[in-house]
Amino acid sequence: MNMKTKIYKIDRENIDLNKLKEASELIKKDELVAMPTETVYGLAANGLSDLACKKIFKAKNRPNDNPLILHIASIDKIDTLAKDISDRARVIMDKLWPGPMTLIFKKSDIIPSTVTAGGDTVAIRMPEDIIARKFISLCDLPIAAPSANISGRPSPTNAKDVLFDMDGKISAIIDGGSSKIGIESTVIDMSEKTPVILRPGFYTYEFLKTYLDDIKLDDSLVDSSKIPKSPGQKYRHYAPKAKMQVYVGKNAYETIKKVAQEKKKEGYKVGILEFDDVLDQFDEFDNLSLGDRNDLIQMSHNLFTSIRLLDKKNCDIILAEGVEEANLGKSIMNRMKKSASGLVFNV
Ligand code: TXA
Ligand code: MG
Repeated sequence: MNMKTKIYKIDRENIDLNKLKEASELIKKDELVAMPTETVYGLAANGLSDLACKKIFKAKNRPNDNPLILHIASIDKIDTLAKDISDRARVIMDKLWPGPMTLIFKKSDIIPSTVTAGGDTVAIRMPEDIIARKFISLCDLPIAAPSANISGRPSPTNAKDVLFDMDGKISAIIDGGSSKIGIESTVIDMSEKTPVILRPGFYTYEFLKTYLDDIKLDDSLVDSSKIPKSPGQKYRHYAPKAKMQVYVGKNAYETIKKVAQEKKKEGYKVGILEFDDVLDQFDEFDNLSLGDRNDLIQMSHNLFTSIRLLDKKNCDIILAEGVEEANLGKSIMNRMKKSASGLVFNV
């Protein structure tokens, strides 16, 4: 079904509550509205409405076994949505919410099974983004919101990228500028005794260990032959139309240059994702910088946006330099591996 997708442009310095109110009326009518968050843009819907949540799956073409995250604007809402919340879960909620962290709990009875994909646990996050929080408060509902991309594509980090995937499929987009972080939240299962990171994100294992000393990484994040516990982690994801390959190592850029020249000779349109210090060596290709190679925060901010930009230039192949899998590098490489369907080479 084709509809006109309305854009609400919001000035962060001077938030127009009337516009957010208008957008919240759409949510109350079970329509879909994309909203900015500090991680990536989310595709928001009434999280208590089965009908509205079904629309999310349809607009994204999302596999129906992949559950949604419910977003809240204040911690006191959690007890209506989740059961058996441990004291230590309450401590990290107090310390790290609002922020890029999603927690999994046993679900309460009011949550439609569409949200949890039939499971007995529910994912909950309180975003930090001020526009998201004001919007959720005005909706006065838990807001179901997966990343606002077509399933399998890179998550959108600005309103233009949302429009590219969702134009005509959703009622509105709240344009709050570019997402501060650029990769999705860390998903932590708090429903069992031992906390487990199901999806690495902006909050790293190393950082979270200072709050939860026994926290573990899901087996699939340590051994790639294991099946992930989080349904969303098993799908091909974050993928450009172009074929992508990632190279990691001390002089990875030299290998990238060699491969790029070979591919160009074979007639391919080559896109390059490199770092500031070597970018000028790639002038003969479509090249973009992921920033300073020592600045992982900048890299995560640039990653999805850059992949989408090279896709728009219709590159056939994208060659990217990756980073060591430690700290935020682990979360970045989790995304890059999926974008490249596992084609990551240590050189
Ligand atoms: O940063 C984010 O988390 C963004 C913004 C919009 O909040 N949202 C996001 O949602 O990335 P989505 O749907 O694209 O990813 C949610 C992930 C998926 O991998 C999903 O499988 C997992 O969380 N998930 C959701 N509910 C779960 C549950 N009950 N048990 C295990 N994994 C769950
Ligand atoms: Mg997603």
